[in-house]
Parts: sequence; C-alpha cells; structure tokens
Amino acid sequence: MSSKLELPDYREQSPEVAKRMADLKARPVELQVNKLTKQFRTPNGGTVTALKEIDLQVHRRELMCVLGASGCGKSTFVRTVAGLETPTEGEILLRGNPITGPGPDRGMVFQGYTLFPWLNVKRNVMFGLEMCGSSPIEAESQALQWIDLVGLSKFANAYPHQLSGGMKQRVAIARALANQPPVLLMDEPYGALDPQTRAQMQSYLLQIWQNVDVTILFITHDLDEAIFLSDRILVLSPNPGQVKEIIEVPLPHPRTSELFLTPEFFATKQRIEELIHPNKSGTDDKLPMLKLTKVGDEVV
Ligand SMILES: Nc1ncnc2c1ncn2[C@@H]1O[C@H](COP(=O)(O)OP(=O)(O)OP(=O)(O)O)[C@@H](O)[C@H]1O
Ligand SMILES: [Mg+2]
Repeated sequence: MSSKLELPDYREQSPEVAKRMADLKARPVELQVNKLTKQFRTPNGGTVTALKEIDLQVHRRELMCVLGASGCGKSTFVRTVAGLETPTEGEILLRGNPITGPGPDRGMVFQGYTLFPWLNVKRNVMFGLEMCGSSPIEAESQALQWIDLVGLSKFANAYPHQLSGGMKQRVAIARALANQPPVLLMDEPYGALDPQTRAQMQSYLLQIWQNVDVTILFITHDLDEAIFLSDRILVLSPNPGQVKEIIEVPLPHPRTSELFLTPEFFATKQRIEELIHPNKSGTDDKLPMLKLTKVGDEVV
C-alpha cells in the first residue's frame, strides 16, 4: 500500500462550490486593481519593488485573503488600497473611482490594538461616526448597534485595558464597520491572538460578514485561516510581489471546523504551500548558529 495520501485536485469543485464561485464572479467589481506597481527607496539610494504589475478584481461582498511569504508586499498592497501609500504605477479603483488617499469608504483593522485607551468601548465606536458628521445622539445609538453585533453589549462602558485581546479586536471591527464602508481592510488582525481565540474570531468574522454588506480584504500568514475564511485566496510571490495564483477554495459554506479534516482542505493547503515555498526540500533550513553550549551539554 502506498503511504502517500491520495488527494483530489484542488481545482475540482462540487456543483455547489462551482455555483457559488460563478455567483461571486457575476457580482459587481468593488475593487479593480490595474497594473499596480509600488517601489520604495532604500536607505542606500536604491529602490525595492514591493509590488509589480498586480491585476486583480475583488467582487462585491467577497472575503478575499492575501497570502505570501514575509516581505512579499501584503501590507504594502493593503496600505495602497487604504490610500496610505501611493502607487508608483497603475491604479486601484473603488466602485470605479480611483483611490487617491484614505477615506471613510475603507475601514481598517490592523494587528496592533488601535483603540483609544482613554475612551470606553462605546466612545471608541462613536468616534468615527461623529467625525463623519453624525450627531452625538445618532452616533451613540448606531455605536450600540455595532457593539451588539460583535457581541459586546455588556462591555459598552468598559475601557480597552479591561478587555481581552479578542474583545479589543471585536471593538476594532465594530469601529471600522460603524460608518458602513463598502470595503474593510484587515492586516493580520488576529496575529497577536492565541490559537483558540483566533479560531473563535474567524467564526465571528464570517458571521459578521454574512450580516453586513461589506467586501473584505484580509491579510494573513496563516494558511488554515485563509482557507477557512475565503472563497478566493490571492497568493503573492516575493521579490517583487506579484500575483502567483488566485486559488478558488473548493470548500462549501457554512464553514465549520470539520472542514479542516477534509481531503479538499488538505489538497488546497498543499497547493498553497507549493506556491509559497516552491523550493522546499523537505528538510528544514538550518540557521547559521553561534554555539553557546559546552561539549557534552548538547540536547538532541
Ligand atoms: N516604507 C518602506 N520603505 C522602504 N521599503 C519598504 C517600505 N515598506 C515596505 N518596504 C519593503 O517592501 C517589501 C514588502 O514589504 P511588506 O511590509 O509589504 O511585506 P509583507 O508581505 O507585509 O511582510 P510581512 O509578512 O513580514 O508582514 C519589503 O521588501 C519591505 O522591506
Ligand atoms: Mg505585513
């Protein structure tokens, strides 16, 4: 008997998944990325090409994850969509309009907890609403609805330091969504959470996304997280960051933890691993290590 597990082709889709994919691509394009190139100056006077000629369409209400090795340009990409970086060449259109800077039509949640520590949960969520012109009464009532949506009604008057990491990220999501932006940008939002909280936050995000009309770009290092959350995954290759492949995840909805045990899941993960680590020999790379142990004191 062969010891190699026979996996299906990750491109094989059940009729249910194929229909879901066709429906997704038939929806209007929310983000259109045309030949996006981004270069930075390096301290020694050279340039580094973080992104090269990225072409991409993200459809309305899609939740797309972006994966790739460290340094392949994931954050640069999401920061450019956020309007925090300017393209060197090419453009990004949101609902047909070129992105020229940050705006309330893009909510952002990043890894560090970016809540204001001096404001309670309710005031943190109200902040953006008031900035966009809501009266304090309107802002309060809307903020409470968003806080309810992320399951934190009991903590509306708590301060960030009184919340767990997962709760803080839920407040950050409520705050980012409060102005009802068409697009939510998330850069490794769960990177600092323990695995259990992280899994819970992934399920929360899917629930929120099902109930809110929002298109999500979600950057992660975690293959399992990307497969669990997305219908399509953008895999970037490094140096320079380019589109390596857009993977259509062959898993049905609703997503449950049992899907992690299916052959389709393993086949998808194996394909992404091949794309991200194409030259992996099977043995782990050894670091050049300074030896700080005495002879006879080694651990094996
Ligand atoms: N402001 C900057 N100035 C110069 N170079 C930059 C700047 N921002 C990013 N870079 C370079 O662009 C490349 C892509 O960086 P980026 O942070 O987008 O990668 P990443 O995929 O998000 O990495 P990670 O997975 O480690 O977060 C890297 O080579 C990085 O050094
Ligand atoms: Mg990054």
